[in-house]
Amino acid sequence: MYICVCNGINERDIRSAVDAGARTLGDLQRELGVASGCGQCAGEAQCLLRESGRDCAFGAQLHPA
Ligand code: FES
Repeated sequence: MYICVCNGINERDIRSAVDAGARTLGDLQRELGVASGCGQCAGEAQCLLRESGRDCAFGAQLHPA
């Protein structure tokens, strides 16, 4: 599932960046370009940065209970 349509970034890309050490939206912006266009993905990207991601629209699918 694409998180950032402007830059073609999916949740797997974000998970990989987090696994590699990304901890903030700024990290994701520098490393992947997340939220560098329209910005619509910023909230979901920040949500995916949290430990569980359970409150995310897509995170619920990534981390089933
Ligand atoms: S959807 Fe990510 S910058 Fe537009």
